[in-house]
Amino acid sequence: MKKQLLVFILLFSFSFSTYTIYAQKFQNMAPVPPMGWNSWNRFGCNVNEKMLKETADMLVETGMRDAGYTYLVIDDCWHGERDSLGFIREHPDLFPSGMKALAEYIHARGLKFGIYSSAGFKTCAGRPASRGREYQDAMVYASWDVDYLKYDWCGTEGLSAYGAYMTMRDALYEAGRPVVFSLCEWGNSKPWLWGAQMGHLWRTTGDICAIFDGFEDHGTYKNLGVLQILDLQDTLRTYAGPDGWNDPDMLQVGNGMTVGEDRAHFTMWCMLSAPLMAGNDLRSMSPETIEILMNREAIAIDRDPLGIQGFPFKKEGDLHTWLKPLSEGRWAVCFLNRGRQDISLSIDWKQFTVKDELSGQQLDTKEHVYSVRDIWAKEDLGTTGKKDFTTLLPGHDVFCIVLTPVNAL
Ligand code: GLA
Repeated sequence: MKKQLLVFILLFSFSFSTYTIYAQKFQNMAPVPPMGWNSWNRFGCNVNEKMLKETADMLVETGMRDAGYTYLVIDDCWHGERDSLGFIREHPDLFPSGMKALAEYIHARGLKFGIYSSAGFKTCAGRPASRGREYQDAMVYASWDVDYLKYDWCGTEGLSAYGAYMTMRDALYEAGRPVVFSLCEWGNSKPWLWGAQMGHLWRTTGDICAIFDGFEDHGTYKNLGVLQILDLQDTLRTYAGPDGWNDPDMLQVGNGMTVGEDRAHFTMWCMLSAPLMAGNDLRSMSPETIEILMNREAIAIDRDPLGIQGFPFKKEGDLHTWLKPLSEGRWAVCFLNRGRQDISLSIDWKQFTVKDELSGQQLDTKEHVYSVRDIWAKEDLGTTGKKDFTTLLPGHDVFCIVLTPVNAL
């Protein structure tokens, strides 16, 4: 009897320790929001080896890699068939040199390599997906030296999102190659409540489109504009932080909105501590697009080490003021003009008295003096000790400043 009990205890502890070994994501893969480029927003299913290599080159040549855009992620439609043993293969016509060779090309340029699949039987574009093949697919990705997996939610009828993402998380972990795991479940099952156990970022909404204020109607579903996505983020800030980020979807900068709209979109994503995945054609960017994507002062707001998502402070008609606590007692303050009409913006420097419960950080322009930096004009504007400041804020644009305490708080 004693012997049986011992065997039982040994078996129990063994299976429990096995479980604890596998039941985790790769830790500390995303201490700040991940940045990179993804093929979907601009290229959809038109992916191929040549375009992706050119994109890798452009990430380096433009300086984007050095500004933080390190992950090059191939979204849907790279897939070929499964082989006779069920292993997934790249499409031979689109990737004649093979995925491993493409990964080498990307890695040789100091970039990281990302790929896409879905938790259902088919991806959203109808390609073979990972349901029932999770461990096998994770092994293939590891053999290709994949560093990032975006995992979609098409074709998952009847599946629990929690369970499906856990299965793939464990499969990736067992395959042994550290991977950033991007959950693309569109916010259906509130992934902000459990996503940090599974991966490093989770989509909070349906797909974005290159419209600032509105929708793109596809009949059975709608793509959301920038403001429509922004308005769904207000209540989610408590869930984001180092190694687990809310993902309001990839960037549409350079995909057809006006320069002001692109700037506002980019700035607000930075205020949200959003993952910054560029989604435009890097081979034909305008100087304005490059300037927006590469604004290091905006990127520093996004990737501030505090990792605290911003919040709306005031909503007055079309003018919304957002705040984001930053390290060293600094704050980003962003005035967003949601309407089409210009606004004559008059800033009363004494209006900011806020205690943010989430970060514990206080902003008090009545008690303290802060220096003011305009992050788009890249200009110092003096201090909050001066009289009010007035500027013209065009429609669908932002005015964004960083406040730094002049004396230690
Ligand atoms: C879904 C995702 C998109 C993209 C497409 C690919 O719609 O939300 O981001 O990956 O699938 O088919």
